[in-house]
Amino acid sequence: MKIIIDTDPGQDDAVAILLALASPEIEVLGITAVAGNVPLDLTTKNARIICELARRTDIPVFAGARQPLKRPLVTAEHVHGRTGLDGPTLPDPTMPLQDQDAVEFIIETLRREEAGTVTLVPIGPLTNIALALLKAPDIAERIERIVLMGGAYFEVGNITPAAEFNIYVDPEAAETVFRSGVPLVVMPLDVTHKALVTKARNDAFRQMDTPVGTAVAQMTDFFERFDKQKYGSDGAPLHDPCTVAWLLKPDLFTGREINVEIECLSDLTRGMTVADWWGITDRPKNSLFIGDLDADGFFDLLTDRLARL
Ligand code: BDR
Ligand code: CA
Repeated sequence: MKIIIDTDPGQDDAVAILLALASPEIEVLGITAVAGNVPLDLTTKNARIICELARRTDIPVFAGARQPLKRPLVTAEHVHGRTGLDGPTLPDPTMPLQDQDAVEFIIETLRREEAGTVTLVPIGPLTNIALALLKAPDIAERIERIVLMGGAYFEVGNITPAAEFNIYVDPEAAETVFRSGVPLVVMPLDVTHKALVTKARNDAFRQMDTPVGTAVAQMTDFFERFDKQKYGSDGAPLHDPCTVAWLLKPDLFTGREINVEIECLSDLTRGMTVADWWGITDRPKNSLFIGDLDADGFFDLLTDRLARL
């Protein structure tokens, strides 16, 4: 299957990219970077660092939006560290950034490839995806589906009491995507907080004794600090890799087809995903909202694939 990964790396973004690059079922047409966890100059750099770690310098990496559609950028160095990829010491990338703008690449690719054959995998704020949909509305019906990490229902929130980071940073972009009519698969905190890198799972990465295994162990060592402190959880939550794992093995996940609307007006609840889990309204269903996963199956898949790199 053909995918474009839209990302703001981020340690968990990095693991999602590595999982995709390690999986023969998936063809990564390109990686588009967006500002999010850290500013754009770092996310474009980090995306290339990860491609080089996977020895995949053939993957084109594009720079997208520096700012959300209507708001100043909010970043998450308190979670990901100053570089966005704190933990391992990885060399600066030597592969070039593409000249083409990320939004143009997304539009051009969707118009070139056969309709219904390209899946978008956004794992950062939805700015690039919304810009593409706003600029070229014809692409909406050509997208096979969008499998995104964002939002929360029972587990709200991780940047405010009401909101998850990716949706909070650019709620107007999220609203554009959720109202686009494109089939959506949503990985909210409800499921990603169950994909925890426990000590045993971290050891399994380290025991690969490869550059990728060691880097992933070091990244998740760093990344677990925030969640252990805040939620008392048993290791780092691998939010973003849930998207790629769903593409590979959807049976590992369960969820419901529901309506989700995005709060854009209130400051207090900005970026809240108002998820009609119980079917209270008759608003049209627009998302497969995932609530649970087989965590051991997920980590078996991830460990098996990462070991191939
Ligand atoms: C999301 O925000 C970022 O910090 C992570 O990379 C993930 O995409 C989790 O809320
Ligand atoms: Ca991310």
